[in-house]
Amino acid sequence: MYKIIHYPPNTAIDYARPKLVKSWVGPLENTEYTCNLTVHIEFEPIGRRGDCPSDSSLLECARYLGVDIVSICGGVGDCGRCIVQILKGKVSPLTDNERQLLDKAMIAKGYRLACRTIPLGDILVKVPPQSLSTPQRTQVEGEEITVKPASSVTVCPVSLKPATLADLQADAERLRESPDIKNKVKISNFDIAILREISPELRLKKWQIQAAVRDGEVVALLPLNRNPLGLAVDLGTSKIAVYLMDLTSGKTLALRGLMNPQISYGEDIIARMALANRGTEQAKLLQELVVAAINEAIIEMCNETKKSPSDIADAVLVANTAMHHLFLRLPIGQLARAPYIATVSSAIDVKARDIGLKIASGAYMHFLPNIAGYVGADHVAAILSTGIYKEDSITMVLDIGTNTEICLANHRKLTSLSCASGPAFEGAHIKSGMRAADGAIEHVKLVSDKVEYQTIGGVAPVGLCGSAILDTLAQLFLAGIVDASGKIKPHPRVRENNGTREFVLVYGNKQDEARPDITFTQRDIRELQLAKGAIRTGIEVLLESNKLKYRDIDSILIAGAFGSYIDVASAVAIGMLPNLPLERFRQVGNAAGMGAKLALISRHQRAIAQEIGTRVQYIDLSSAPQFSRIFNKAINLG
Ligand code: FES
Repeated sequence: MYKIIHYPPNTAIDYARPKLVKSWVGPLENTEYTCNLTVHIEFEPIGRRGDCPSDSSLLECARYLGVDIVSICGGVGDCGRCIVQILKGKVSPLTDNERQLLDKAMIAKGYRLACRTIPLGDILVKVPPQSLSTPQRTQVEGEEITVKPASSVTVCPVSLKPATLADLQADAERLRESPDIKNKVKISNFDIAILREISPELRLKKWQIQAAVRDGEVVALLPLNRNPLGLAVDLGTSKIAVYLMDLTSGKTLALRGLMNPQISYGEDIIARMALANRGTEQAKLLQELVVAAINEAIIEMCNETKKSPSDIADAVLVANTAMHHLFLRLPIGQLARAPYIATVSSAIDVKARDIGLKIASGAYMHFLPNIAGYVGADHVAAILSTGIYKEDSITMVLDIGTNTEICLANHRKLTSLSCASGPAFEGAHIKSGMRAADGAIEHVKLVSDKVEYQTIGGVAPVGLCGSAILDTLAQLFLAGIVDASGKIKPHPRVRENNGTREFVLVYGNKQDEARPDITFTQRDIRELQLAKGAIRTGIEVLLESNKLKYRDIDSILIAGAFGSYIDVASAVAIGMLPNLPLERFRQVGNAAGMGAKLALISRHQRAIAQEIGTRVQYIDLSSAPQFSRIFNKAINLG
């Protein structure tokens, strides 16, 4: 029996000795545990090696050793993306899931699903490039909207008379009663952390200081001549956009786009909700992963701009309802099941330190309101930043993702819904699909029988990301290689593989297993038909509920990372978007992030967001009476 100490992943430790493991889902705190046996695993070509308990799956071992393997389903064995090759050593027998998801040729070469495979001794594993979760292209920028900065925090510079034996007033009262303060704001409360700081700070700063006051409460003490800073966060299921703002000028000082680290516990939000629902330790792990990533971004942005995190006196976060609940560690069980009830939908303010954020000690984080179901504050933020809530026109805003949120603004009447478009546009459930990282083909064009393509990073192609998946389907449909029902027709590039037809986009290198053929299969097309059918159904249900036809739409705004890179003409060609003149479409980038920034720098915009939350009429698409009728038509192409 080994005595095992459990360290968090990525800690600077020597992985070569037996150690740790209390639980594979809660490895953030050092804990002690005992375990019978460990196995030594080496991951190639990354060269990461270490010891893991013998009863853990390869995916769990990879997570522990800091090897990011794609696991869209969170390790339940149904996405087929965690493919690895066993080069040496014994592992558990093949499972039914693997027989279904891997073809015979792959199985013969030792390919396995990491989440279904348990090492039975020391092993050598190869992780193909497609299975490595490389940093994804993120979209943090959007259309900047200029508003007059007037944040929720008022900063008052004060110059106090030092305390003397003849003037025994306490420090907090001295600050509150100072004419510099009284002429500007009324202080009614001091945060306890500020009370702990105030006496040494006043003396250190020679009684010259700035008090940051929010709704009568002192939330930060800043040195003179330093503008208060703000933090805006758009917390997405796959990506996080973080902005460091100057609250006085309203300017963005720095920004970061990062991958949501929860991805290694499932790209699918449902998998993460299921994990969080298993217990407080798991929910805590998921929350702490995101908080750590945001804290790291804060430090990087502050170093870059030579600012201090303690000057961040206010923060705003937007997210979909599920991410919002995971971030706040709110109960998630009732949100995961019909009728999908949120714990809270109105805007809330929480002390940032209670979440674990390292900014000014008394600062709050403001959470914009959620609407209903999974339509959350990020949708409110997108409505806010695009301004569709106040326009006298018929405008639609779509944020396309695993869940696609759509709002129809019909002359200020707002109706929203979300449709389960699935992860196909993230490259999941698509044979050669991958996320938008280096090596992903991002655009495809068919010229005669030749396939022209462009990859992210200009490197050799590894797979297809969402925009290329959309292009491929549109190009094959326009060329008549795929008919309106989605069936692949005979063509020199079309072949049968394991009983399925597939179109070969790129012929790989037979000598190099890391360069397999990149193909587009009949099953991929069916998957995309479901995704595009869901989105088009959402659009049509919104139009019907407002007694409108698609030709009545003045403009369609496409928001979000995926929407920023798609070729709108391809989306129109397959019928995912209505057949309107292309000039009626506009790709607006990260509209949710822009909304978070607006709500941060302007309390007026924050109030509008609150009002939008109550104004939006929500439609539950799955129970809409016209759903089946429209969906059955909408899955056809063109
Ligand atoms: S099949 Fe292994 S993570 Fe999905």
